[in-house]
Amino acid sequence: MPLPVEEVKAQVPLVDVVSAAVRLQPSGRYLKGLCPFHEEKTPSFFVFPERGTWRCFGCGRGGDVISFAMERDQATFVEAVGALAREAGIVVSPQEERKRSRLQLLGQVNQEAAEFYHRLLKESPEAKAAREYLAERDISQETIARFMLGFAPSSYGIVRSHLVSLGFAPEDLLQVGLLRQGDREPYDYFRNRIMFPIRDARGRFCGFGARTLSAEIQPKYLNTPQTPLFDKSGLLYGLDLAQQPIRERKQCIVVEGYTDVLMAHQHGETNVVASMGTALTEKHVRAVKGLTTNLVLALDPDAAGSAATLRGLEVARRAFDRVDARVSLGDVMRLESTLAADIRIAVLPEGKDPDELLRADRDAWRQRIESAEPFVDYAFRFIAREHNLNSTQGKRAAVQALAPLITDVADPVARQHYLKRLGQVLDLGIQSEVLMNLMHAQRPARRTARTARRKDEEDPAKNGPAQAGDRLEEYLLGLLIVHPQTHALAADVIDAEDFHQPLHRQAFAHLAAAGNGQAAADDAAEDNVRGLLDRLRQAGSHQPRIDEAHLNPTVVAAALRLKQRNLQEENADLQLLLANERNDREQPLGTQIREEVRRIGEQLRRINRALKQTSFIRTP
Ligand code: UTP
Ligand code: MN
Repeated sequence: MPLPVEEVKAQVPLVDVVSAAVRLQPSGRYLKGLCPFHEEKTPSFFVFPERGTWRCFGCGRGGDVISFAMERDQATFVEAVGALAREAGIVVSPQEERKRSRLQLLGQVNQEAAEFYHRLLKESPEAKAAREYLAERDISQETIARFMLGFAPSSYGIVRSHLVSLGFAPEDLLQVGLLRQGDREPYDYFRNRIMFPIRDARGRFCGFGARTLSAEIQPKYLNTPQTPLFDKSGLLYGLDLAQQPIRERKQCIVVEGYTDVLMAHQHGETNVVASMGTALTEKHVRAVKGLTTNLVLALDPDAAGSAATLRGLEVARRAFDRVDARVSLGDVMRLESTLAADIRIAVLPEGKDPDELLRADRDAWRQRIESAEPFVDYAFRFIAREHNLNSTQGKRAAVQALAPLITDVADPVARQHYLKRLGQVLDLGIQSEVLMNLMHAQRPARRTARTARRKDEEDPAKNGPAQAGDRLEEYLLGLLIVHPQTHALAADVIDAEDFHQPLHRQAFAHLAAAGNGQAAADDAAEDNVRGLLDRLRQAGSHQPRIDEAHLNPTVVAAALRLKQRNLQEENADLQLLLANERNDREQPLGTQIREEVRRIGEQLRRINRALKQTSFIRTP
């Protein structure tokens, strides 16, 4: 049985769900109240019962009943659907139910273990050294309690016998990583270590970090291995406690270590979380995205200089940029809107991690955070160092690395500033408008589309969910599926070749062949095309209706944008050739290229004029 998405949407009234969390005042055909997701004194949170949607004009969040539950519970889509289904008494498949209760049980195992370790730390004579160690590091009793720090004694069986006495099976303990399978029987995995229970945003006990007391013992930290509950690459240590402060302060500070989080919270810096020693991943960013879009990464100078960090940042940037196909289908404006996140880098003094810095000099810490450098500035310095900017190749690589970052800068003045700087740094000798075109076309859209194309050729069946940059294509296809009669209109502007994604090209061709979305999808020979069409149709049917008068212009505008994107890309390649020619007199350039540039320029101007005429369209 699939996820009961339809049942939930049909049977769970949004107003009921929201009312449980927000005092709503009826006002005309909608209701309003104080937004539960950000601090406010006057209501800017609206619920539209007829459409089953909500929107906060203060913080910009919005969506349907499922997105409300996702925000409310800080849950994934699947979890939110499950939660709503349960609340409404909708029957979930026994399989799903078993999985959920299994996870719940495993969480309980961890929680009992955490409480046991915590008690041992406070009471056991064997934990004396651990207590002294923590005291020496200025970790207060209150911090120990808030983070439920614990102590695992050197015994090979004390945790097992304690938890078994509580009624848990050794298999459960093995599965959460508390036990390890020995030659004869499973034994306690964590021994003679200080225990850091790791909870997720909702406070569920997912696993442990365990620190040795002695510098001789390796590894310094032993962590819970990958388990159904513990995914190190997605968890942020301290997020359960930091959640509310992050919302209130509208900022999330990411550090690297457990002890850094302890010390930060102890010093009142409660909006701090740790990535547990791994580079920042998209999952991490997703975990905080619902709370704030202001991220500060506090990095030690080594990490700050590493390529891994930059890759992590690129991931972070894209995670902010990307929206689920579910959301983006109804939101063409977002395609053009710039990145809403502000990611900054605070480089700490040499040899000081946040823990040491905070203890030594809290003001210095504050000052570093406050003067954190915008990611783009940081990336500039970094990239200028990485590439040989005297060579054409180096310049091209630098433009490619920086372009997506610059186009994401929301403030147009700042964007101009960066463009100008890029022009100067690279000594391109071209106008910033030209560069801007170049930037636009260099957006990740294109790179992902190209790599995707290559991948698809290897394995046509592997067409997962949309990648960044395919949103426009998906959006347009979604429109055409829900409103098949508009296909001919779009076909006046574009053809199948205008789609980067091969699957999208196929889908567009199928739609054209049948002239009818439904029939086309069903006739589609390939499962993956059918799958895509079904998914888009389903997503499209969740979108608020586009009224008759706006439908045609909406389709035309989307098709124009697609065409515009492709022309801009072509243009960018040519511009790069032109720019190179200026610096590299060896490279001969025919009038042909200039002629091509002129032709594209003209087409783009025509498209711009046409788009202006459709610019009154605001798709919901
Ligand atoms: P650090 O070595 O900076 O740890 O590693 P720390 O938290 O500052 O610990 P102290 O101050 O020496 O007590 C940063 C993070 O990397 C992960 C942990 O999440 C740690 O907090 N790590 C480090 C491991 O998982 N295993 C290790 O062996 C070391
Ligand atoms: Mn440390």
